[in-house]
Amino acid sequence: MSSETPPVTGSAPVARPKTTGLHVGDAVPGVAKVDPIIIADGVHRSFGGVTAVDVEHLEIPRGVITALIGPNGAGKTTLFNLLTGFDKPDHGTWTFDGTSLSGMPAYKVARMGLVRTFQLTKALGLLTVMENMKLGAKNQRGEKFWAGMIPALWRKQDEGLEVRAMELLKKFKLDAKADDFAASLSGGQRKLLEMARSLMTEPTLVMLDEPMAGVNPALTQSLLDHILGLKDEGMTVLFVEHDMHMVRHIADWVVVMAEGRIVAEGAPEAVMKDPAVVDAYLGAHQELDLGVVTGRIDVVQADPTTDAAASAAADADAIVDRGIAEEEQEGGK
Ligand SMILES: Nc1ncnc2c1ncn2[C@@H]1O[C@H](COP(=O)(O)OP(=O)(O)OP(=O)(O)O)[C@@H](O)[C@H]1O
Ligand SMILES: [Mg+2]
Repeated sequence: MSSETPPVTGSAPVARPKTTGLHVGDAVPGVAKVDPIIIADGVHRSFGGVTAVDVEHLEIPRGVITALIGPNGAGKTTLFNLLTGFDKPDHGTWTFDGTSLSGMPAYKVARMGLVRTFQLTKALGLLTVMENMKLGAKNQRGEKFWAGMIPALWRKQDEGLEVRAMELLKKFKLDAKADDFAASLSGGQRKLLEMARSLMTEPTLVMLDEPMAGVNPALTQSLLDHILGLKDEGMTVLFVEHDMHMVRHIADWVVVMAEGRIVAEGAPEAVMKDPAVVDAYLGAHQELDLGVVTGRIDVVQADPTTDAAASAAADADAIVDRGIAEEEQEGGK
């Protein structure tokens, strides 16, 4: 595996080299990884007669960013649900960091260091941003009912949680909103809150289900940078995304699902050229960057292969502030 440490230059986005040398042998579906953090075997889930997930073998490389792509209904979210204990497979086994997670409930999975966010944000509108952060941590930890009955126990823990929550909220530029109801946040800010909340338990693997969906274009740069930041901090990231521009920009490895199966894997540039992927996924839009199609990416902005460098030139803070201002003007819709 080869990965250089990115230079630290304030809060501006930094061009990061992609990590390569992640797999062993040809990049075929199910290919072994040099250092896998997740290894799944024979994972199958059907709903009625419909097979949603049928994964023979899948390994997720450690310490890098893997994108899981595929058409609507390919089974990406269902696979996320299974791996994180939010759903149970018909059959199949998988390990996380060498420990079997099969049949383990979600809160225990989170306690092991594997957290996820949801395609539709789960921020609780009638709780404040800070309460959401603290509750996220408690839910992920599987807080015991009786622990809540011993004030001395929870007060001390609560203070610790609040400090960590505030650090994360600052990082995600939500600290000024700590006491606001989550319902008052814009869509993009809710996505940021959900990501911040998932980090409360200091996970080793973060699974993000469409983190950019519904986010104001001006905030996507911030989200991208946060995802790259997770890798910088040594976390492993697995994310689902439909926007090929985003995938090219930040993924070190790409896994393609179609009809429940893994149909291709590889480095982003190679996968995007794979005829099976073009057939299964890109279809009629193959000549276009889907970032342009979805309107999230300015056509003149950048060549996707050099986009990391392009983003480094941008002033992140200005972009983020503009995005937040725009979203606030929209009235927190
Ligand atoms: N709870 C459920 N009950 C019945 N069918 C389901 C359920 N969850 C998912 N499915 C079906 O399983 C298949 C895979 O769905 P899934 O949501 O995992 O796809 P996806 O790849 O995440 O799609 P998208 O890109 O649209 O989010 C689809 O055919 C879907 O209709
Ligand atoms: Mg989905």
